[in-house]
Amino acid sequence: MASYSFLGVTVSFIFIITYAFANDTLHFPKDFLLGTATASYQIEGAWNESGKGESIWDEYTHNRPNFIRDHSTGDVACDSYHKYKEDVQLLSNLKVDFYRFSISWPRVLPTGYANVINREGINYYKNLINELLAKGIEPFVTLYHWDHPEIFEKMGGWTNEMMVEWISDYARVIFKELGPKVKYFITINEAAVFCDEGYGRNDKAPGKNLGSTGKYLCMHNALKAHAKIYHIYDEEFRKPGDKIGIDAACSGAIAKHLNDTTAIDLHFQFHCGWAVHPIFSKTGDYPEVMKTHIAENSRLDGYPRSLLPKFSPTWVNYIKGTSDFFALNHYTSVRVETVPREEGQRWYQFSGVKESLDPSWPGSASSWLKVVPQGFREIINKIAKEYDNPPLYIMENGFSDECCTSDHSRISYLHSYIKAMLLAIYEDGCNVKGYTIWSFLDNFEWLAGYTERFGLVYVNFTDSQRTRTPKLSFNWYKHIIETRKLTSTFDSPTVINVA
Ligand code: NOJ
Repeated sequence: MASYSFLGVTVSFIFIITYAFANDTLHFPKDFLLGTATASYQIEGAWNESGKGESIWDEYTHNRPNFIRDHSTGDVACDSYHKYKEDVQLLSNLKVDFYRFSISWPRVLPTGYANVINREGINYYKNLINELLAKGIEPFVTLYHWDHPEIFEKMGGWTNEMMVEWISDYARVIFKELGPKVKYFITINEAAVFCDEGYGRNDKAPGKNLGSTGKYLCMHNALKAHAKIYHIYDEEFRKPGDKIGIDAACSGAIAKHLNDTTAIDLHFQFHCGWAVHPIFSKTGDYPEVMKTHIAENSRLDGYPRSLLPKFSPTWVNYIKGTSDFFALNHYTSVRVETVPREEGQRWYQFSGVKESLDPSWPGSASSWLKVVPQGFREIINKIAKEYDNPPLYIMENGFSDECCTSDHSRISYLHSYIKAMLLAIYEDGCNVKGYTIWSFLDNFEWLAGYTERFGLVYVNFTDSQRTRTPKLSFNWYKHIIETRKLTSTFDSPTVINVA
């Protein structure tokens, strides 16, 4: 649209005016899916009931209470294990097309292995799925949202290649038991996050603090595991129309210095590409720039080999193409700039890109979550460009606060992000098929315990009944789902009524 001629400027001006009017109301595309999400450890509670085994999060919260901000655990959480019927009724009131939830591996396989199937655990998920389907809500099932059986952690968890076999055995049980009624599966949630924070550092269970070696090894095995689960589904369980994919966390990157596209690209490849390039790119394997940077920096730091493990050509081919869609979790962006390698610094760990936050960005209750909707539009475009515009499902997007049901800041955030996504669809031609708000309920926010609330529904954690109260954002989202459009006013009084 840019033009240097007088006529060009005039044309641009008219275009902007027309565009603004056209965007007063943005409609969702036909067949676009709208939903909301949770994860087992964060909401279920009943940590040692009805035959459930111990997960790494049970172990972590029980034995390292000081690492959780309010010293809490997920022992009871939202008590959704007992209150699932009330939850489904709320979801039905919200009128969502689908509900994304995850299965607790040790709840269905208490020994971890597939030798003992806990019928009570399986029945809990069967009942939940039946309840959802009876109300016309599609279940979107995540197999692994970070709570694997503790027994496997004792043997190295994701740093042990046997995890590929153990999780595949578990997946087969789930596909057999629940598959007949489920159309959408997600294999693994945010591998880059649990590998970095749980194995590279101590910011998530299991808190191994193994640095780059641990985090790269974890991802290597997680990618193999994902591919194996995909192939099992494809070969043994797939029904016509089913979809199965992997979920990746990709934050946005805004260049600190104008036109520093190198910083944006490096940031993308090291955070997002690391987990998805092996699956979605034409060549497969890790991004080239990651392989060369890490090899070079490992050499400069005196290591006999690269800290990034290598896939054999057989594994590259086996992993490539193993996702029917791209499931994106996105919340925020960082400011990026390229920095030179300095002697003595473990430069490879941070890709040569320095991250910071722009102080002008509005914040949330989470120190890392700033409101940058432009970054959302850009990351959707980046994924479309890098991987040939795959079908994209936004599987998590949301905002944290510390309080209350009058959550105007959440509505404002959601409005700006949904608008950015719709512009990515209509203006940029990106292939986005669905959108999910994290989260349905306030819940156990990992190391932040219950101090950061992401829910559309307020949960009273000091009440033994864990009373639920829909927030304003619940009604706002319900209105959007009903009308299938986003209006320019984000807190119109017409949407503030009882659920
Ligand atoms: C992504 C994770 O999947 C989810 O478990 C977490 O609660 C949200 N981010 C918010 O931090």
